[in-house]
Amino acid sequence: MFIKSIAFENYRNLKTDIIFPAKGINVIYGDNAQGKTNLLECIWLFTGGRSFRGSRENELVAFDKKYAKISLCFNSDGRDQGIEITISGGKRGAVLNDVPKKFMSQIIGSFCAVVFSPNHLTLIKNGPEERRNFIDTALCQIKPSYAVLLSRYKRALNERNSLLKDIPKHRELEDMLDVWDERIAEEGIKISAERRKYVKLLSQPAMGFYDGISSGKEKLSIEYRSVIQDSSEADAAEIKNSIISALEARRADDIICGYTTVGVHRDDLSVKINDREARKFGSQGQQRSAVLALKLAEAYVIGKQKGETPVVLLDDVLSELDSTRQNYLLNKLEGMQVFITCCEKIDDTENKMRIENGEIFSVEE
Ligand SMILES: Nc1ncnc2c1ncn2[C@@H]1O[C@H](COP(=O)(O)OP(=O)(O)OP(=O)(O)O)[C@@H](O)[C@H]1O
Ligand SMILES: [Mg+2]
Repeated sequence: MFIKSIAFENYRNLKTDIIFPAKGINVIYGDNAQGKTNLLECIWLFTGGRSFRGSRENELVAFDKKYAKISLCFNSDGRDQGIEITISGGKRGAVLNDVPKKFMSQIIGSFCAVVFSPNHLTLIKNGPEERRNFIDTALCQIKPSYAVLLSRYKRALNERNSLLKDIPKHRELEDMLDVWDERIAEEGIKISAERRKYVKLLSQPAMGFYDGISSGKEKLSIEYRSVIQDSSEADAAEIKNSIISALEARRADDIICGYTTVGVHRDDLSVKINDREARKFGSQGQQRSAVLALKLAEAYVIGKQKGETPVVLLDDVLSELDSTRQNYLLNKLEGMQVFITCCEKIDDTENKMRIENGEIFSVEE
């Protein structure tokens, strides 16, 4: 999948224009506060997702303007396609291939992208929730039925948790927990199996990208850590019984806490560099390299599953990386359309754009 053109009108500080990026690596450089992240954010919106900066809709419209309009022409499924997004009155509307869509969610899946921004370093630095989300978001893109499974699990968990809170006052409700234990076990087993399968697919390419970024000097390894056993190592009934027993064993504690302390909602993705936890022992550059390798591997796996590689957006990725690591990103990512922003002009790359005060200039050399 690749972008042929992006047009914008009244989007943040970007001057009304249309740009035609190259199929391979595109470097966008400029001083601070010139609009580099704004451009990547604008591209990201065509995935149907919300701003990766967590901004509200009306913050995307240029100051003193009433609306913003952005359009994308991209090639996917062997044909040119178009998306137009209009933002006004705090709302977003989309038109996909000339067909107006009522909800933004209806365009999800047509244009696919993977984004890295400095905010995403929390993927390594923070607790397990972000790592579970990283796995879940990719799985939802690859397999829409996974989103249904996940929401069924969350509903069962919420029901169990509200019951746990009521039990101290109404002890007779305790018997009802059995139903939810069973549901949490059944859905949890499916979620754990899907996540484990996906992490296995991700592992090899993540290792490969990290090996490239670190020029073979360091090794990245990832592993899914679940409360539920691997189904290849035990039979289905045995697995179900063990998770139900675990829920029962924690029941008294759960009633005191008022929430469920065991289940796939507490699973984690272990990320190690040279066999040590990246979160605890990784340097800034190593953590950045690990997040990057995970994001690139995500793009690779989605590409394999869907038959097309998503567009890769790398915001401010080069800082903290030494020149060998930078060189890999600028020259070795083949078969993907990549947008990289940075402050300095980089000489040995082919497709460059300079951005100044929201105005984009293509740089010929
Ligand atoms: N709605 C808006 N209307 C007009 N300008 C805006 C709007 N929102 C943000 N800006 C301006 O856009 C400018 C550029 O922002 P952006 O984050 O894209 O910069 P950047 O080039 O990525 O800088 P850095 O290198 O510091 O990350 C900021 O100065 C900000 O004030
Ligand atoms: Mg920026």
